[in-house]
Amino acid sequence: MAAPGTTGDEGGRQPGPTENIDSILTEERRFEPPASFSAGAHVKSLAEYQALRDAAERDPVAFWAGLARDELHWHRPFTSAFDDSRAPYYAWFGDGLLNVSFNCLDRHLAKNADKTAILFEGEPGDTRRISYAELHRRVCRFANALKMRGIGLGDRVIIYMPMVPEAVVAMLACARIGAIHSVVFGGFSSGSLRNRIEDASARTVITADGGHRGGKVIELKAACDTALSEGCKSVETVFVLRRAGNHVRMQHGRDLWWDEAESNLADECEPVWVDGEHPLFLLYTSGSTGKPKGIQHASAGYLVVVAATMKWVFDIRDSDIFWCTADIGWVTGHSYVAYGPLACGATVLMYEGAPTVPDAGRFWSICARHHVTIFYTAPTAIRALMKLGESFPARYDLSSLRLLGTVGEPINPEAWMWFHRVIGHERCPIVDTWWQTETGAIMIAPLPGAITTKPGSCTRPLPGIDADIVDANGHSIADFAQGGELVIRKPWPSMLRAVWGDDRRYRDTYWGKFDGRCYIAGDTAHRDHDGYFWILGRSDDVLKVSGHRLGTMEIESALVAHPRVAEAAVVGKPDETKGESIFAFVVPRGARPTGDAAGTLSAELRAWVAQQIGPIAKPDHIRYADSLPKTRSGKIMRRLLRDIARGEAITQDTSTLENEEIVRQLQGEP
Ligand code: WTA
Repeated sequence: MAAPGTTGDEGGRQPGPTENIDSILTEERRFEPPASFSAGAHVKSLAEYQALRDAAERDPVAFWAGLARDELHWHRPFTSAFDDSRAPYYAWFGDGLLNVSFNCLDRHLAKNADKTAILFEGEPGDTRRISYAELHRRVCRFANALKMRGIGLGDRVIIYMPMVPEAVVAMLACARIGAIHSVVFGGFSSGSLRNRIEDASARTVITADGGHRGGKVIELKAACDTALSEGCKSVETVFVLRRAGNHVRMQHGRDLWWDEAESNLADECEPVWVDGEHPLFLLYTSGSTGKPKGIQHASAGYLVVVAATMKWVFDIRDSDIFWCTADIGWVTGHSYVAYGPLACGATVLMYEGAPTVPDAGRFWSICARHHVTIFYTAPTAIRALMKLGESFPARYDLSSLRLLGTVGEPINPEAWMWFHRVIGHERCPIVDTWWQTETGAIMIAPLPGAITTKPGSCTRPLPGIDADIVDANGHSIADFAQGGELVIRKPWPSMLRAVWGDDRRYRDTYWGKFDGRCYIAGDTAHRDHDGYFWILGRSDDVLKVSGHRLGTMEIESALVAHPRVAEAAVVGKPDETKGESIFAFVVPRGARPTGDAAGTLSAELRAWVAQQIGPIAKPDHIRYADSLPKTRSGKIMRRLLRDIARGEAITQDTSTLENEEIVRQLQGEP
């Protein structure tokens, strides 16, 4: 049965247009914005969207400058909106003065002091409501605690915490005093934590005794102790929040309990006014080669676009209860749990734990009990919950929902339709939002009151975002049937400013390919006749596992660090739920294990990778061979390995291989 708002026919799928992607389908279903939604929306029609886009195209700098004046409180207005004299090291609003925590807190106090800023639910079921006034007090107190330990302008602070409100307090406290935070996902191991502390030369770590996740206590302080015992000489202070009540060791002089550190400190803390370009945070993310990069964002430009996208894409209103399920350790948690909602004075819901505790109804139970109106999650979560059946969502009243969103990877039309029908009751528009750690904020997504959606497409670029799809020479691809590289042709305010400590890597990775003419996203995409974008996947060796970005190189390095591993190559294998699963080909030191010995070694290697990087990076499949297939120039033949991992017929010429027998070993033959 066609859903209301559907036009076009119900399927009409044909095999896809691009040769490098297996299963792109031509999707003909269309969903127009419900009239009732459009009527109350910030952007009400295609014409209004087009007018915004036209204005931005006529004069991009004036367009963004206008938004920066409207959306933010400036202590001293900027006179220079944009500086491209050092391209591609662009600057926005560089001579204005502002404070991000002031913009997220103080300016709401006159009208909204008692409004709930954060509505929290812990995995064990505890709940808290924190008003804007209280959040302001808590941020000021903790900022004072940081200052007491000598932290100030430009110092790096690592935040390694569970999904509790104090994680946001810590971020805003850093912003208040001009310190630069770098949040490390609580699921990362001590090794990953150590690398990030060392790369950022952080002076302080903010952590918790533990957090609740999947019915277990994740021992964050213990992991932190391990990291610090192996290096991290720059760290002088560790703040420890009491959360899970698990036993921890406190090192005298270095470790402080959060509550004790801030007792007796003032509830007020003067914001430090910083210039628009002052770094707000670093966030480490995987690239195709080498170690994770510290993606550096600037204060003003970042905040302008996250605030604007809250209105354009999420159509945020004063009465909304906004829930983004992302962890604070990923960019989505930064932009749409912390900074975006708070910059808009919205109420944001934070949930600490796993979606399946105590059962697969947890998300829907939270939506129903807290009257969530906007729900933003990842395709992998939708697919996982979809598999567990419709009876869970059916138990809960989801009528408060008015808008749904997805992020992190392409959403397959089936999952989109399930989300639309079972969660949105065919009433809520879905915004499929394409963006990246590097872009800071959403770049391509439907404006829900203005743009007709198609399942699986992130639709059209936002106003001011000059996205394009290009061929190997950087020329725009006019042919709708052909895929290419996704690029952004003009700088935008929330773009990354640097890779921490590595200017060259910034320039080469993001601007190197087409003579600095455009930003290279590292994704492939194609466009349909309506100008809609369809993201096909990564063009580099980055995997998207359960929506998390992992470099194959990082996993390979971890494997090779094991004494039994001589060489390793990791590729992604499509996975129904996780998007991609991790497939590792390993050349062991000594004899190639078979049978039980192979099983034992595989278990050991999986545990090893979990310990080195974190459980999300554990290979799902491991296969052993006496060597890896390489080209004559010594490059691993990754395409061949991908075909093997997928169990597909091998199309490459393997005659150049020194030992063709290897292919059979890699295919799993004894
Ligand atoms: C992928 C997450 C298809 C893409 C915000 C991108 C998507 C990478 C979408 C960035 C989407 C994100 N449709 N693919 N709606 N959103 N991606 O840095 O490959 O963790 O390059 O940022 O996720 O991942 P990151």
